[in-house]
Amino acid sequence: MSEKSREKVPHLLRGMKDILPVDQPAWDVLRRAVHAFAASYGFSRLDTPVLEQTSLFVRSVGKNTDIVEKEMFSFVDQGNEQMSLRPEATASIARAYIEHGFVNQPKPVKLYWIGPVFRHDRPQAGRFRQFWQFDFETLGEAHPVVDAELILVLYSLIKSVGLDPVVQINSIGDASDRERYKKALLEYFRPRRNQLPEEVRKRLQRNPLRILDAKEEEVRILIQDAPQIVDFLSDEANKHFVKVLEHLDDLEIPYVLNPRLVRGLDYYNRTVFEIWNGDDETGQMALGGGGRYDGLIETLGGQATPAAGFAVGMERLLLKLREANVPLPGPETPRIFVAQLGEASRKKCLKLFEQLRRAGIPASHTLAKDGIKQQMEAANRLKVKYTLILGQKEMIDNTILIRDMDNGIQETISFEKAVSEIQKRLERSALREKSSSTEVSTD
Ligand code: HAM
Repeated sequence: MSEKSREKVPHLLRGMKDILPVDQPAWDVLRRAVHAFAASYGFSRLDTPVLEQTSLFVRSVGKNTDIVEKEMFSFVDQGNEQMSLRPEATASIARAYIEHGFVNQPKPVKLYWIGPVFRHDRPQAGRFRQFWQFDFETLGEAHPVVDAELILVLYSLIKSVGLDPVVQINSIGDASDRERYKKALLEYFRPRRNQLPEEVRKRLQRNPLRILDAKEEEVRILIQDAPQIVDFLSDEANKHFVKVLEHLDDLEIPYVLNPRLVRGLDYYNRTVFEIWNGDDETGQMALGGGGRYDGLIETLGGQATPAAGFAVGMERLLLKLREANVPLPGPETPRIFVAQLGEASRKKCLKLFEQLRRAGIPASHTLAKDGIKQQMEAANRLKVKYTLILGQKEMIDNTILIRDMDNGIQETISFEKAVSEIQKRLERSALREKSSSTEVSTD
């Protein structure tokens, strides 16, 4: 391809991905798990638009956060409105909660959400500019049992798909606890300012808590001796945290108390948590995260509504599943192929194909092709179990050939019986496969 024509070939944007047909079955497994968990824990689905007012995210995620400062895809539309592609779901869910009067519903209101979100992050392994999240939120209830239930859903879901989840948990208290803690943190770092890289020094000024999840080694060493937020919690916040941990103990959910976990979004208070896979020591590839955000709905103009929730990054989940060699389904392949010879037979085969589909039998064909050789090659490629062949002789006799693709044996059967015969044979071979697999497992 010449340089010039290469220029013209459109390409994917950086950090964006197509989800190809071969990957769809694995995605379906995850999506089904999300819907099933939501149903069994009583969460109802809410979808929100991909675009929202930019101010929604500035006011909820916070203007001094990485997401709002650097990562939003924002633009002014034709109507001169400042809008952004959603970088997360919680803010939109809070907006919808206020806008649709969820406040009048019995509490708690339990909602779940699934869809793509957008962050102009630096693309690397497990970090994309468009990625999928699923998100669970419980609104209208301040009790610590809510936090525990959310962690239970998150933990069980990740475990159920075959990973090794580790809960990281901390409490960042209420606003006044954090103010006292920030002062202590600034005091601790003041004499050590010169040991901090320029960027971290700036962060310390703007959003002191964020220094705790700094990735730089020299900063991490200093953090080890820094004051910890748990020592600044009010009695109320402390009691809340202890109750959450008691519930986790009762549920036998293992957790790591992580005093450095502060999360990168401003709306949190009290419980914050993340879920890391067992092999992830730093949380670089956190699978999910969340926490309490009791002040958010009021900040956005709604009635004071305590709430908590979490979100999981679905690409990361799949990445970790692949790394751990957890078997994931491939595309479903048809068991039956329909082959034909001649125009009249082609017509009859298209109808037969539709009858098979209505009977719930996945079939395939290459009806646009004429040669039987090409059609049989296609059947072989698809590794079907049987091929139904309708040649000229069979057209005259009102029969059809049924070919067992494993041993090449062909039989002639009445055309009318084609669907029921295929059904019978597939059931028989499914039974055989089942009994041979149980024989293997009892050995
Ligand atoms: P978050 O920690 O920003 O929280 O994102 C949740 C998850 O999304 C992360 O743990 C990670 O798996 C995934 N994720 C984040 N950034 C990327 C990226 N650039 N590429 C791929 N995956 C990524 C939230 O979004 C909060 N709204 C969670 C929440 C819900 N809190 C309360 N309710």
